[in-house]
Amino acid sequence: MIKVNDNFCKLPGSYLFSEVARKVAAYSSANAGADIIRMGIGDVSLPLCHSAVQAMRQAVGDLSRADTFHGYGPETGYDFLRQAIIDNDYIPRGINLSVDEIFINDGAKSDTGNIGDILSQDCRVAITDPVYPVYVDTNVMAGRAGQLAADLKWSRILYLPCNLSNGFVPELPTTAPDIVYLCYPNNPTGTVLNREQLKVWVDYARAHSVLILFDAAYEAYITDPEIPHSIYEIPGADEVAIEFRSYSKTAGFTGVRCGYTVVPKTLMGVSSDGAKVSLNALWRRRQTTKFNGASYIAQRGAAALYSDQGKKEVSDSISYYMRNARLILQSVKSMGLQAVGGENAPYVWVKTPDGISSWEFFDLLLNRCQVVGTPGVGFGPSGEGYFRFSAFSSLDATTEAMNRIMKL
Ligand code: MLT
Repeated sequence: MIKVNDNFCKLPGSYLFSEVARKVAAYSSANAGADIIRMGIGDVSLPLCHSAVQAMRQAVGDLSRADTFHGYGPETGYDFLRQAIIDNDYIPRGINLSVDEIFINDGAKSDTGNIGDILSQDCRVAITDPVYPVYVDTNVMAGRAGQLAADLKWSRILYLPCNLSNGFVPELPTTAPDIVYLCYPNNPTGTVLNREQLKVWVDYARAHSVLILFDAAYEAYITDPEIPHSIYEIPGADEVAIEFRSYSKTAGFTGVRCGYTVVPKTLMGVSSDGAKVSLNALWRRRQTTKFNGASYIAQRGAAALYSDQGKKEVSDSISYYMRNARLILQSVKSMGLQAVGGENAPYVWVKTPDGISSWEFFDLLLNRCQVVGTPGVGFGPSGEGYFRFSAFSSLDATTEAMNRIMKL
């Protein structure tokens, strides 16, 4: 008998972005030639940074010669990239890490989804709401979420609402979870936590033995110097936090696939017999068993982003997208809509007008303006009545989209 994992059967029919893509494909086939502007999934529109392209071409050359060929690489990543990460992403912020605390991956989505493999099925999970759907869906798959209720909440997940009334700052839970996912700058709301606000979470996690899964995929978009880029800027975070980073949104790696996860050696969990266990050791064991490493070509491309030229190109592409973000924010505000984000993040989170639902707003923009965004409720119950615009389209497309919506 082919018995399936029942937890998968509990999931809604399709993943949020697949559902959006399905609706857009249906619209396009019914409206041949429609000029659709895509501001839904945060996929980049600029081509790969030139430095990465050159390094990847050279890496292909390496693979084409017997004396420089690379087969299986280290499962946790090549040291040339791990050391570049430490030297450029952490040491300048006063954070000391060793290479064996850095795990190179094929993008932050995989690791934020897979990290639950090393955590007990009993763990109580807290999420900010709205949230990147991968955190919830992968906990459903793992059997940690309980049952889905009519209010769109999973019975074993602790929801921390983030909305206009609390300034999108999650309040500490009244009962301590075992795991909390924090994503800052936030996807989908584009909001940030300042140093004091993040310290509140680190102190709470230390006091209650909570693991923070900190998704920093958008840290490169921070412009305000008061906003921490890494959770390890907060003292003591290395005892309670795992951090995820990505090259997808900084250097156009959404198709190349490369990112990394930091699991400090000071971070300890507890086994069911009460023994202390290193999460770094468990994650290494998991990765060496289930993963053969990101490709050599992708890692060479990522390492090139740390050259002077690479850094300049990354910074230029971020400035380009942030110009779009400002344009979106100003445009929607000029229409009288309430909106946040877009200042330290490439997402703008908009309150839908006249109390219309997220999906109604999605349909309205698709049908009347041929503009695609993401309905807020797809990110969780507190996202109902909100809508997310991504700033990753071209400037021309973003300008055109805003003009169309303003006319509407
Ligand atoms: C998003 O649109 O939320 C992201 O692009 C999705 C992702 O990074 O997987």
